[in-house]
Amino acid sequence: MNNGVTQPVAIVTGANTGIGLETALGLAERGLRVVATARDPERGATAVAEIERRTGKTVDLLPLDLASFVSIREFAATVLDRYPRIDVLVHNAGLAPGGHRWETQEGFEAAFGVNHLGPFLLTSLLRERIIARAPARIVIVSSGAYRAAPDGLCFDDLQHRERFHSLQVYAESKLANLYFMQILARQLAGSGVTVNALNPGYVATQLGQPREADLAHAVTVPRDNAASNAALANLPEPLTAARGAVPSITLATSPELATTTGVYFERTKPATLTPVAADLGLAQRLWDESERLVALHPAH
Ligand SMILES: NC(=O)c1ccc[n+]([C@@H]2O[C@H](COP(=O)([O-])OP(=O)(O)OC[C@H]3O[C@@H](n4cnc5c(N)ncnc54)[C@H](OP(=O)(O)O)[C@@H]3O)[C@@H](O)[C@H]2O)c1
Repeated sequence: MNNGVTQPVAIVTGANTGIGLETALGLAERGLRVVATARDPERGATAVAEIERRTGKTVDLLPLDLASFVSIREFAATVLDRYPRIDVLVHNAGLAPGGHRWETQEGFEAAFGVNHLGPFLLTSLLRERIIARAPARIVIVSSGAYRAAPDGLCFDDLQHRERFHSLQVYAESKLANLYFMQILARQLAGSGVTVNALNPGYVATQLGQPREADLAHAVTVPRDNAASNAALANLPEPLTAARGAVPSITLATSPELATTTGVYFERTKPATLTPVAADLGLAQRLWDESERLVALHPAH
């Protein structure tokens, strides 16, 4: 049963705050019917009310917790039931663990699970609908922090059970975003669906401030403060969330980028990936491993 929406539809994950809220707002302003996701219904409703007030547009809200395959599958089923078309999917939701290790409901380390594996599963569930109504765009919010994993992913310990360092874990999850983007773009070549990733720049948001709900499951680990402080020392003045959302909105809507696919953007400029990040063998290895991990937890 669909809800009669005829406008182009844009899903924005993690739209209750930060870059996601401003992305949802910008896409609504541009005439897309935004499906904003939030894992906390109250915070989601507050954000949607703000977006509707500021844009005068109707915005839909659906619950989505990327730390739960059950939630991801419920969300996907609702979307497939309600929306005959998906024109834009912005994988925006993400976390930086900030000195704590915790696990998703299926037992994956949180940054890997929420930033990579959850979006991987969600994309696979929505994939056929997105292709069916192409042209469409998938936009992945990665980070320049991927460079803080210069040796690539540690495939022997993807869940960081043996060694955990917040910055490293976040960097690897954002590198995983880039591997995912490159393989998906190749798989969807010729389908009319583009797949690109971006670094929004350094943006003043709540990133790195673990939420109470997550801390309830967290183990605090000794932080490598020296490394963390060094990484934070040279950061520029942060952008506002509204400016931080410009790259996501641009990749989702710019007519000049209608056929651009498989590209990483630093803000709105195409950028070259480091050799490790551009290694398609490693990207395919992560894809295969992600399929294996998802298959360990099939729908009931
Ligand atoms: N801020 C920066 O400088 C920066 C730089 C580079 C890249 N990024 C990327 O930009 C994206 C947006 O981050 P932000 O800076 O706007 O941070 P933020 O203010 O912390 O917002 C993160 C969003 O992700 C959601 N989220 C967290 N865990 C989730 C889960 N388990 N399931 C569903 N949603 C979840 C949050 O929901 P709750 O509010 O419920 O936790 C929130 O809506 C992230 O992918 C981040 O890696 C940010």
